[in-house]
Amino acid sequence: MNTTTDSHSMLPAQFQRVVSGMRPTGNLHLGHYHGVLENWVRLQHEYECFFFVADWHALTTHYEDPSVIESSVWEMVIDWLAAGVNPSSARIFIQSQVPEHAELHTLLSMMTPLSWLERVPTYKDQQEKLKERDLSTYGFLGYPLLQSADILAYRAGQVPVGEDQVAHVELTREVARRFNHLYGKEPGFEEKAEGAAKKMGKKNAKLYHRLRRSFQEEGDHEALATARALLESQQNITMGDRERLFGYLEGGGKVILPEPQPLLTPASKMPGLDGQKMSKSYNNTISLREDPVEVERKIRTMPTDPARVRRTDPGDPAKCPVWEFQKVYTDDGTRSELAEGCRSAGIGCLDCKQHVIDGVLRELAPMRERAQKFAEDPILVRSIIEEGGELAREEAKRTMVEVRQAMGLVY
Ligand code: TRP
Ligand code: SF4
Repeated sequence: MNTTTDSHSMLPAQFQRVVSGMRPTGNLHLGHYHGVLENWVRLQHEYECFFFVADWHALTTHYEDPSVIESSVWEMVIDWLAAGVNPSSARIFIQSQVPEHAELHTLLSMMTPLSWLERVPTYKDQQEKLKERDLSTYGFLGYPLLQSADILAYRAGQVPVGEDQVAHVELTREVARRFNHLYGKEPGFEEKAEGAAKKMGKKNAKLYHRLRRSFQEEGDHEALATARALLESQQNITMGDRERLFGYLEGGGKVILPEPQPLLTPASKMPGLDGQKMSKSYNNTISLREDPVEVERKIRTMPTDPARVRRTDPGDPAKCPVWEFQKVYTDDGTRSELAEGCRSAGIGCLDCKQHVIDGVLRELAPMRERAQKFAEDPILVRSIIEEGGELAREEAKRTMVEVRQAMGLVY
């Protein structure tokens, strides 16, 4: 457990900020929905959320053929909206329309050791995996640092990511820690922190000092936790003062960039039509706006338990890709009947698949309806993104004022 600068991630949920991005590299499918999007839709009611189209990140791998990015951006936003991401709950925007991400990336790059980037596992992995692309670029090496800038620009507390992205959040934490260590000592920090403590009132200030001493002199972590709770409950101090007091508590400087936590996205239970992971490159997807006729065709032609050659051959659900879909779409009662029917050859595979077809169509119908509304009204979609971008810029600008000041860039 980190005890230096994770003050933000210890705030109650509704005060915490969540930031996440998605690269626009094609249209979204059920795998995205059951993994990322369903999670976002839930989070938007619990946290202050910032969700963005990571077009610069897409460019790091698609710089030679950026047209797919251009055509995917709006489609992806429509998919988000269709899936239930709600622009009145979450700010949704496009990364490249908030230049503060780039500015912060540049500034962070000055103090990020090259070795930290070289040892991020995705760096070598992706270069190996995407052999057909030349990823020996400056931009690709900087991919996780750009991601750090995305996160730190909003001083996010939580970052919903898949398992493969946890290392990027870890890097973000290290970069933030280094930044605060290097630049968190504003002139007169101690006096300012003492001044801030006084603003909490005599009693609270005294308690704060006592807890601070217990932590610093005796390493009492309970005292640290109590002091943090005390700071969180203060209504009368400014954000800046609160951060000074958080920093002062632990002997460091002001926390300018708080360390975020990864919020692991539960792995999607949704495999592809062939039982492998659902992915465009395996050609085994059902997209969120798939035509119902296509949905039906794709599911009807799914492979089943290879032992069930004829209708009269008994099967084993455990060996059938369709069964993974039943687990997502069918209730327990129906499912045990279907399993029984499969094992006894009492039902045919098409009878079984019909339940999946119905389930998928039921799930996609409202999405298709919403998507259509947005697809027919590009001005509405643009205005949603415009508005989200404005709110995002406002927040990112606030961070950059402090970052520039801390680095001595205010002339
Ligand atoms: N790298 C992430 C991915 O490939 C996308 C991303 C970019 C992101 N910036 C981010 C995710 C910031 C979370 C926070 O999935
Ligand atoms: Fe798969 Fe269902 Fe056919 Fe059994 S009946 S093999 S579970 S599709």
